[in-house]
Amino acid sequence: MNAPLKKLDVASLRAEFPILAREAYGKRLVYLDNAASAQKPRAVIDAMTKTLTQSYANVHRGLHLLSNEATAAYEEARGKVARFLGAASPDEIVFTAGGTDAMNLVAYALGESEIGEGDEIILSLMEHHSNIVPWHFLRERKGAVLKWLDISDDGEIDLDAYRALFTKKTKLVALTHMSNVLGAPTPAKALADIAHEHGAKILFDGCQGAVHGKVDVKEIGCDFYATTAHKLYGPTGVGALYARADILKTLPPFRGGGEMIDTVTTEKVAYNDPPHRFEAGTPPIVEAIAFGAAIEWMNTKGLDAIAAHEAELLAHATDELRKLNFVKLYGQAKRKAPIIAFGLEGAHPHDVAAILDRTGVAIRAGHHCAQPLMKRLGVSATARASFAAYNDHDDVEALIAGLVKTHKMLG
Ligand code: ALA
Repeated sequence: MNAPLKKLDVASLRAEFPILAREAYGKRLVYLDNAASAQKPRAVIDAMTKTLTQSYANVHRGLHLLSNEATAAYEEARGKVARFLGAASPDEIVFTAGGTDAMNLVAYALGESEIGEGDEIILSLMEHHSNIVPWHFLRERKGAVLKWLDISDDGEIDLDAYRALFTKKTKLVALTHMSNVLGAPTPAKALADIAHEHGAKILFDGCQGAVHGKVDVKEIGCDFYATTAHKLYGPTGVGALYARADILKTLPPFRGGGEMIDTVTTEKVAYNDPPHRFEAGTPPIVEAIAFGAAIEWMNTKGLDAIAAHEAELLAHATDELRKLNFVKLYGQAKRKAPIIAFGLEGAHPHDVAAILDRTGVAIRAGHHCAQPLMKRLGVSATARASFAAYNDHDDVEALIAGLVKTHKMLG
């Protein structure tokens, strides 16, 4: 029998986030812009401070105590990311500058080695620009062909329609693991199986997917999985690319510089082994270590407990929003994440966000770096409220009260 699910103690968890103690315009801060970036717990802030004040030096280069300590902590963090994503080994994890950088790495390295003119890449209409623009570069640079998978209004994928996009020229599928606008998860394992049946590789943009549920790249069977720390309660400036070891070994480097080489002469260069081959220059040392601390923090709270709490908030907010006849919700996929895109009748989402802001409620409004999805939904922008582990039912009530007020003001 499974152990009963630990319930999140949200009140004490909130106290771990110093920023939640501040107010916005003299009101309780209700931070519902978590899909853009999450706030940081004391554990992450402390890990950064501790590294900077006690163990900071460059990594992999030094022959002294501080460098050895920093190197050990940096490599430990790689191990934490590997376990968090279910990778077979830390060597399958490349630290990057973020999720966008991870996808650019694959687009460049795989693009150089395996994708040529006329080769096809399958994307969905609900991708974030970070999983679109790097592939457009490849279209422009090498004549690759982008093929677009439609989605349902809820952000769900029809596997037959997906299957029908493959041809002998399909080299890669690059799909989100979870829409940053609709909160819709994609059926990652089925998508990966179908890609592999057709001899294509598959990359998932896990910038949202890794935040709201346990990821196991081995179980999914994907070739690449990109994610970022700052949405996972960690710092900005660092992310991770998972790539299967056998693939990583064959990829050419993306950036050149220190530490990614084995030898350099005036005539030629020989590269280091992965993952270091892909980490040219001084990496985000403090941030990577704090990324590890963020993962540890999430594990301590319990990924299932966080997900269960977020599901409660989503259900509460959705029920309340449905009662407001002036609100239109976008995306009601099964098992969706607590990311709610919506619009207010007759109001521009930017105005909604600006008025809500004055009530202390922070949301995002705009195209959410997903313009093809906006076009698919027939809008230029939406408002978006996104929840995290530290949000509570008072935050939901504040959102609803703020929207009623906004409607009155704009109506
Ligand atoms: N990708 C982030 C978002 O969806 C910034 O808001």
